[in-house]
Amino acid sequence: MTFASVEDARERLRGVGYLTDDRLATTAFLQSALGKPLLLEGPAGVGKTQLAQSVAAATGRRLLRLQCYEGQDETKALYEWDYGKQLLYTQMLRDKIGQVVQDAPDISSAVERIAAQDSVFFSERFLVPRPLLEALTSPEPVVLLIDEVDRADEALEAVFLELLAEFQVSVPEVGTFTAEHHPLVVLTSNNTRDLSAALKRRCLHLFLDYPAADRELEIIRSKDTGLADALAEQLVGVVRGLRELELRKAPSISETIDWARTLAVLGVTELSAPVLAETLNVVTKYERDLGIATRELPRLVDPNATVPGERGHGHGHGHGHGHGAPETPAGPTSAPVPASAPPRPAPDAGDGRDVRAGKDAPGRHDEQYYGSPSAASGRPRTVTPGQGSRSFRPGGARKRPL
Ligand SMILES: Nc1ncnc2c1ncn2[C@@H]1O[C@H](COP(=O)(O)OP(=O)(O)OP(=O)(O)O)[C@@H](O)[C@H]1O
Ligand SMILES: [Mg+2]
Repeated sequence: MTFASVEDARERLRGVGYLTDDRLATTAFLQSALGKPLLLEGPAGVGKTQLAQSVAAATGRRLLRLQCYEGQDETKALYEWDYGKQLLYTQMLRDKIGQVVQDAPDISSAVERIAAQDSVFFSERFLVPRPLLEALTSPEPVVLLIDEVDRADEALEAVFLELLAEFQVSVPEVGTFTAEHHPLVVLTSNNTRDLSAALKRRCLHLFLDYPAADRELEIIRSKDTGLADALAEQLVGVVRGLRELELRKAPSISETIDWARTLAVLGVTELSAPVLAETLNVVTKYERDLGIATRELPRLVDPNATVPGERGHGHGHGHGHGHGAPETPAGPTSAPVPASAPPRPAPDAGDGRDVRAGKDAPGRHDEQYYGSPSAASGRPRTVTPGQGSRSFRPGGARKRPL
C-alpha cells in the first residue's frame, strides 16, 4: 500500500527504521502519490539506497535492484535469452527438427524451414527477465531501485528513459511489455558524472545532504549502538566538525554509526581526543584525512583546547596568516579551522549550514588537493556552500575510483 499522506510516509518509514525529515517524508509521499520516479543525489552514506529499501519495506513491496556499473551491457539490464535452455530444447527435439528439414531439397531451404520456427525459441519461455523487465512484468507492484545510475553508460541511461517515460520495454523478438502495475522507481547517484537533462526531467529530484544534528543523533540512537546518549550527542558534534574540515572523504551517517558502535564495544565512558584519535580510522578513509582529523580532534572535542603547533607564533611554517584575525582565510598549510572558529554548533542548532558556509575553506576538489607543493600558494579558490555539496562536487566529471 502506498503512502496516504506525508505523516503516513514519515510514520511508516520510521516503523521500518528509516528516520526522515520534512523534506524527505514529503518527497516519499509525493513519489507514491504521483507515481513518478525519484532521483536521489548526494554524498556517499547519507541513506539513498536505504531509503529505497525502506520504501519497499514500508509499502510491503518487493525490492528489485539494478546496480549500475561502467561497461554494463544495457540489454542485460532488461533481459537475457536463456541459451542453455534453448540448447537443451533443441537437443531434445533433434528428431522433430530432423523431420522438419528431412525432405528439404537444399541447405538454403532447410535454413528457411528452421528460421520459420524461430519464434518458438525466441519466445517468453526462453526469456530471463532482469530487474528492469521484471519490475514491469511482476504481477505485484514492486519498488525498483536503480542504484548508482551515474556509473551507468549513456546507452543504459537511454534504456532508463524509455522505461521511466512509458513504463514499457520493447524486446524486438517478442514485442512490447507494458507495466501491469507501475513500480515505484528510485534512482540514486553520487554524481560521478552529470546525468542527462532528459533523465532528470522525468524524475522527482531530491538532494540528500548530511542530516541535521538532532536527526543524526536520532538515527544513531535508533541503531542501538550501545553508546550512552550523552556520548552519542558529543560524537555527532565531533563528526559534524570533521565534515567542516578539508577531508577528501567526509564522514557520513554510516561512519557515525560505525564510530558509535566501535566506541561502545571498547567500553568508552568519556570522549576524549586521544580515545577518538585511536579509533579515527573508522571514519577516515585516507591517510591524509587521518592526519588532518587527528590534528583537529582536540579542538573538536573541546572548542577551547589549543591545537599543538598553534601556540604562540613559534610554529614557523611561514604561511604568514594573521593570527587572531577571524576573517583571514586558512592557508593550505594552516589548520583548516582557524583557532578563532566558532565552537561546534549545539545539537539543536539546525544543520549548521551558515556556520559551515562561513568557514568553508575552498578548493577541496581541485587539482591541488593532494597536498602538492603548489597547494601552498594560497591562491583564491572557488567556494561552494553546504557540507554535502562540497564533498559531492556537483557536475563533477571525475569518475569515482574503482
Ligand atoms: N534516515 C536514516 N535513517 C536510518 N538510517 C539511516 C538513515 N540514513 C542513513 N542511514 C544509515 O546509513 C547507512 C548508509 O546508508 P546508504 O547505504 O543508504 O547510503 P548511500 O547514500 O546509498 O551511500 P552510497 O552512495 O555510498 O551508496 C545505512 O545503512 C543506514 O543504516
Ligand atoms: Mg547506496
